[in-house]
Amino acid sequence: MRLAVVGGGSTYTPELVDGFARLRDVLPVTELVLTDPAEDRLETVGGLARRILARAGHPAAVTTTSDLDAAVADADAVLLQLRVGGQAARERDETWPLECGCVGQETTGAGGLAKALRTVPVVLDIAERVRRANPDAWIVDFTNPVGIVTRALLAEGHRAVGLCNVAIGLQRKFAALLDVSPEEVHLDHVGLNHLTWELGVRLGGPDGADVLPGLLAEHGETIAADLRLPKAVLDRLGAVPSYYLRYFYAHDEVVAEMRTRPSRAAEVAAMERRLLEMYADPALDTKPELLAKRGGAHYSEAAVALTAALLGDGSGGGSVQVVNTRNDGTLPFLPDDAVIEVPAEVSPAGAKPLPVPPLSPLYTGLISAVTAYEHLALEAALRGGRDRVFAALLAHPLVGQYTLAEELTDRLIAHNREYLAWA
Ligand code: G6P
Ligand code: MN
Repeated sequence: MRLAVVGGGSTYTPELVDGFARLRDVLPVTELVLTDPAEDRLETVGGLARRILARAGHPAAVTTTSDLDAAVADADAVLLQLRVGGQAARERDETWPLECGCVGQETTGAGGLAKALRTVPVVLDIAERVRRANPDAWIVDFTNPVGIVTRALLAEGHRAVGLCNVAIGLQRKFAALLDVSPEEVHLDHVGLNHLTWELGVRLGGPDGADVLPGLLAEHGETIAADLRLPKAVLDRLGAVPSYYLRYFYAHDEVVAEMRTRPSRAAEVAAMERRLLEMYADPALDTKPELLAKRGGAHYSEAAVALTAALLGDGSGGGSVQVVNTRNDGTLPFLPDDAVIEVPAEVSPAGAKPLPVPPLSPLYTGLISAVTAYEHLALEAALRGGRDRVFAALLAHPLVGQYTLAEELTDRLIAHNREYLAWA
């Protein structure tokens, strides 16, 4: 099995390779190709990838190339984990919205729109080249904003599934609190990427008993403290929101905090410098602890499980995993072509969402509004133009006012001109 990682020079790659090493029985990789335009990083990260696999006695060969077409040739699956413009562009996404009194975040609000506009054309070009090389290859997308990027890929007919580590992170957290193994915990996870809630926590599988009420009664304070939300919010919902919901439920509080702190991009850039120094040490043959301080912890487990289910022979039936895929009636209040994040049965035929019971307006309202924004964001990414950027911002529930949308539109364009073909 040949896997290609686009953005293979990312400091996250050792997390992924560590997953391949630990879970070799689940995913029998024989060749791992890392591709990245940044050749220096690629060599440093590739070296560590080889040492991690060698230490585990894993037989896969690791190759590195900056030639994307060579990398994806004959790949059975292609993992996308790229960041157009790097941490420098992310820093800007986190800064100019804040100057207008809005949350400065790389996937939520105006910063997330900027990232979508930079990223969608690049990802679609890569996907086209993957399809030309092998029309049967699967694309696993971790590239943010995952909801919009996956929607773009599916709209163009690509064989793609979007992935995020929020669900697997909560699954592990709840398992630890309940003192059971993560595999026993099934989440009634629903929403859009980075806009999700756990409405139930079941033991043993999708039909198991819901232990969420007891979990909230016993560990509600711990769970709420992690999310930096008052426990009362979780009690009112009777659900656990993802930490990205704090940008909605406590928007002004987050803005005030962000104004007093260095950006996450600056923090991550410093961590990345340190990580690359560590990776360059030929004696290092494990993923360093420092990597756990990145938001993507556990994403290797999710990626391995998903890739294995997509490339398996399907003989064991599908495996249930939380993924980003086409709605197709699962949430009946959304259009079919919306991309939702829910548990789905994943097999070589793709991802098929499990049924979701009717949702309260507490969730349908916000999910609908953000889906409408994502539709407009994709239009802006594909077709360009100031008016489309403005429309997406006006529709976003964290923007809404026309004066603010105008101001944000001007800043978005000014800060991203080099990435926007039409600007
Ligand atoms: C979580 C999210 C990812 C995001 C990451 C950011 O893992 O699910 O979508 O990319 O956090 O982490 P960072 O360490 O870059 O802030
Ligand atoms: Mn994510």
